[in-house]
Amino acid sequence: MRVLAIESSCDETSVAIVDSAREILSNAVLSQAAHTAFGGVIPEVASREHVRTIVPLYEQALRDADSTLGDIDLIAATHGPGLVGPLLVGLSFAKGLAFATGKPFVPVNHLEGHLAANLLAHPDLDARHLCLIVSGGHTLLVAVERFAEYTVLGQTRDDAAGEAFDKVAKIMGLGYPGGAALDKLAATGNPEAIAFPRAMRKEPYAFSFSGVKTAVSLYLDRLNDDQREAQRADVAASFQEAVVDSLVEKTINAAQEHGFRHISVTGGVAANSRLRTKMSEAAAVENRRVFVPPLSLCGDNAAMIAAAGFLRHELFGPGELIANAIPNLPLVVDDQ
Ligand code: KG4
Ligand code: ZN
Repeated sequence: MRVLAIESSCDETSVAIVDSAREILSNAVLSQAAHTAFGGVIPEVASREHVRTIVPLYEQALRDADSTLGDIDLIAATHGPGLVGPLLVGLSFAKGLAFATGKPFVPVNHLEGHLAANLLAHPDLDARHLCLIVSGGHTLLVAVERFAEYTVLGQTRDDAAGEAFDKVAKIMGLGYPGGAALDKLAATGNPEAIAFPRAMRKEPYAFSFSGVKTAVSLYLDRLNDDQREAQRADVAASFQEAVVDSLVEKTINAAQEHGFRHISVTGGVAANSRLRTKMSEAAAVENRRVFVPPLSLCGDNAAMIAAAGFLRHELFGPGELIANAIPNLPLVVDDQ
């Protein structure tokens, strides 16, 4: 079954075609450059960029997959969580396609999409597993009984992990979004140079990253220009270590407590090299396995939405064309 999916919840426009949640035929992603100058995503600008690029990306996705609309069996689109204007662009486009062609349509939760990225990339990942979703907008630890059956064990009380990376990167003049640049700079620094705080140690699975961000800001404020320059890489590495330690410690504790052999890490921050290494090392101690998507499936993309849409359609059948954009859509909806 060929699924055409659209993702437009934030500042990536993406259209993908995936065969039965297994084979990616195309995954066209455009990261909007328009926000760089503002140091953050401007929702209205993002909406307009989605409108401008969605048709060319749709055409590219079909071309790359060597397909026509006639070859598509199912249409999926993200309907939340995310920015309402951007969500509406992709969702309306997808619903329009479904309405015009009579093809079935499935609205997809963006967080379930991130979760499905690892199902798509790793056929050997157990249906029952622990999933850490770490992105620019979210940080949550999810016990997955099987696809679509979740218990959220914990989430962030303030900033998402990616948000903290972006804010610290901004303070350090690394541009926006700066997670990847900070990761690169950190690779040349000493992660033990500065003891930045690891928050929420007493709360088993809750996260907090605003304190460490403030600690970095205060630390840099106390330095003169020369010291700041000399310590750049050490500050980046030590900040990254504090964030990664929190993520790894709580995830491994949850895996032990709830008996998960398989752990998946997904979302934009799953691209972080230190997180990938430390999570795998910590898990290996008790023979647990860690699954991370390839870099192309870590950040926002429509292939993961197609995979989730396919799996959802298999379980629940087609969704309704009245599906609306829901900016704060939770992963677990009470009446699901
Ligand atoms: O999943 P995503 O594309 O969008 C959301 O759903 O939020 O995640 C984007 C986030 C940004 O905060 C970005 O800085 C962060 O992922 N990111 C990274 C790295 N690559 C992207 N953070 C740390 N290290 C990286 N290598
Ligand atoms: Zn995302």
